[in-house]
Amino acid sequence: MSRLTARIIGVGSYLPEKRLTNSDLAQFVETSDEWIRSRTGIGARHVAADGEFTSDLAAEAGRRALQAAGVPAESIDLLIVATTTPDLVFPSTASIAQHKLGMSGRRIPAFDVQAVCAGFIHAISIADQYIRAGTCWRVMVIGAETVSRILDWNDRGTCILFGDGAGAVILEAERNNGERGILSTHLHADGSLVDLLKTTGGVSRGGPPEGGSATIRMQGNEVFKHAVKALESCVDETLVANGLSKEQIDWLVPHQANIRIIQSTAKRLGMSMNRVAVTLERHGNTSAASVPLALDEVVRDGRIQAGHHVLMIAVGGGFTWGSALVKW
Ligand code: COA
Repeated sequence: MSRLTARIIGVGSYLPEKRLTNSDLAQFVETSDEWIRSRTGIGARHVAADGEFTSDLAAEAGRRALQAAGVPAESIDLLIVATTTPDLVFPSTASIAQHKLGMSGRRIPAFDVQAVCAGFIHAISIADQYIRAGTCWRVMVIGAETVSRILDWNDRGTCILFGDGAGAVILEAERNNGERGILSTHLHADGSLVDLLKTTGGVSRGGPPEGGSATIRMQGNEVFKHAVKALESCVDETLVANGLSKEQIDWLVPHQANIRIIQSTAKRLGMSMNRVAVTLERHGNTSAASVPLALDEVVRDGRIQAGHHVLMIAVGGGFTWGSALVKW
């Protein structure tokens, strides 16, 4: 009997209504549209409303993915939410979103994964293992963030970069010989780089010494260099593992952190930018939500077609990084 492979059968996403342009930011931090665009490629980002939580964004993206897949919520066997900005310390955002999605009746497992901007790739990899093992038939994976809640709006080096949003996919088991679906996933972490990108406080360590709530601190230049290197090696690793040449990759769906990082990954693949999903200009960096948000756009408008090799790749604090190669 042929083996089980996880196929993506539906994608959905959600962005909060409020949009904050670079010029809006320039009203309260010393920056300019020109500086932000030229250094990052970002033009605007969305920000969750008061009373709108990560679980709300997650549930809406999940609903849209179910609709795209044409399957009912009750048919999902497992829910994984990748997030760094959970509603609460506990319970998990996945538990809260499961209930909001009307999926609590069957008491399916629901848990969070935290690998910052690489979180969605980690969650996809876990879902893939469950499906390959035959433990679950249909899995919902969501990347959802309200990064705006952990930004220091006085730090122009970070507050210009991030935004809120959510993206979701429905994965389904299919018996084939690896002809389509997730071909491989590759995950990595290097904890020696923790200090390059982190929050100023937390739970066990307590809040920041200066008071207030924890916010993001980043050594931008160093993060940039490590991100480029990590993504390049991950591209090479994925190609080798699948015996593919770079010309055989049809679409790149990268984490949306900085246009120059995306361009360097595309260059490694010898790919023109019209084969790269880019939503950064309108969404900013939405952390774990960025890959599924970008994927939703290129799937919905029909640019990704059956038979395409789609490489999803991301890097984040930790450092964490990884890829998932899908044959559509
Ligand atoms: N507007 C205007 N000037 C700014 C600014 C802003 N928003 N942010 C920083 N600057 C200034 C700095 O103060 C510095 O001024 P100085 O030379 O007078 O000291 C100058 O611009 C250069 O700063 P630098 O940090 O060297 O800029 P950079 O070219 O490295 O760009 C980032 C900064 C953050 C855009 C860039 O490092 C980056 O994108 N890094 C990767 C970040 C990332 O992707 N993080 C998420 C990973 S998942």
